[in-house]
Amino acid sequence: MHPQVCDAQQHSCTEPAPRLRIHNVKPPLVDQRQEILSGLMAANKRVSPKYFYDEAGSRLFDQITELEEYYVTRSERTILEREGRAICAYLSRDTMLIEPGSGSSEKVKMLLQHYLPASYAPIEISEYYLERAAQQLHVDFPELVVHAVCADFTSLDRMPDTVPEAPKAAFFPGSTIGNFEQGAAVQLLRNLRRMLGRRGKLLIGVDLIKHPDTLHAAYNDRQGITARFNLNLLNHLGRILNCSFDMGKFRHRAFYNQALHRIEMHLECREAHTLDVDGRVLVFRKGETIHTENSYKYSIEGFESLAGQAGFRRRQTWTDSERNFSFHCLEGV
Ligand code: AVI
Repeated sequence: MHPQVCDAQQHSCTEPAPRLRIHNVKPPLVDQRQEILSGLMAANKRVSPKYFYDEAGSRLFDQITELEEYYVTRSERTILEREGRAICAYLSRDTMLIEPGSGSSEKVKMLLQHYLPASYAPIEISEYYLERAAQQLHVDFPELVVHAVCADFTSLDRMPDTVPEAPKAAFFPGSTIGNFEQGAAVQLLRNLRRMLGRRGKLLIGVDLIKHPDTLHAAYNDRQGITARFNLNLLNHLGRILNCSFDMGKFRHRAFYNQALHRIEMHLECREAHTLDVDGRVLVFRKGETIHTENSYKYSIEGFESLAGQAGFRRRQTWTDSERNFSFHCLEGV
């Protein structure tokens, strides 16, 4: 099946409604270049973790989710397997189920086997992931209407105009919320709250605070997949900035910052060097790092208070038996 592609900026949806539509509102490359360059020229270099997910990065992330040390995906799956029916009881049939940062859309299938919404709207910046996932969903759930939105969900505060109006709920698994600073996390939840409307349900997975050794191992796996995932970011940046980073000059670093309850990932510069980007010279000193990701861990009360600041109240929480991970049903007040 060939999906109908709607360029939402050009409002080009003219054909009759098929079961699978792709709505493209991907940000222009020039915005990405500016964002990346200003991060690399800052005193403490940093890059948004959203740039991990080019095609190679998306594949590496899939491998991370299978790692023995990376308990996150396994624990959340256990909850969804065990509690899927109870979780779906919060959703009604007339709903468009939105999934920000949907990746391969694998987890939502654990809900779809209990409950088929009126439509499903994955929002994903990686076209590779989005199109493959949407096609596969169409095969696995032929009755399901899919509005696949190619966009940066972090800056989306409403659905594109080409997506039909419908009551909405959201599914936001994987503890992706943990990759946002507190202020940005509240803003993102507020955007979702606005998109979903009053009493809109948000089903969200959140990683819990735990022993530092368990956390350290999860982000420093023995096979070095997380290291490759981190370093691959440089390939992606190089393509966007039209320059070539020497990967051999950087190394993966991940550690638990106990005071801030977060894993920090960095790319540490092994030797001093410079890089030319469009006539600008980026200087890298030996030992300095590019901060590539924070992954915040929460207590249930801590997350409840964060969600409260965004206008959500907690209806129910499920955890796995080891209390590694939490899954919440929130409702907009
Ligand atoms: C997507 N996100 C929740 C992952 C995390 O655990 O913070 C990304 C990741 N980074 C390294 N490993 C996994």
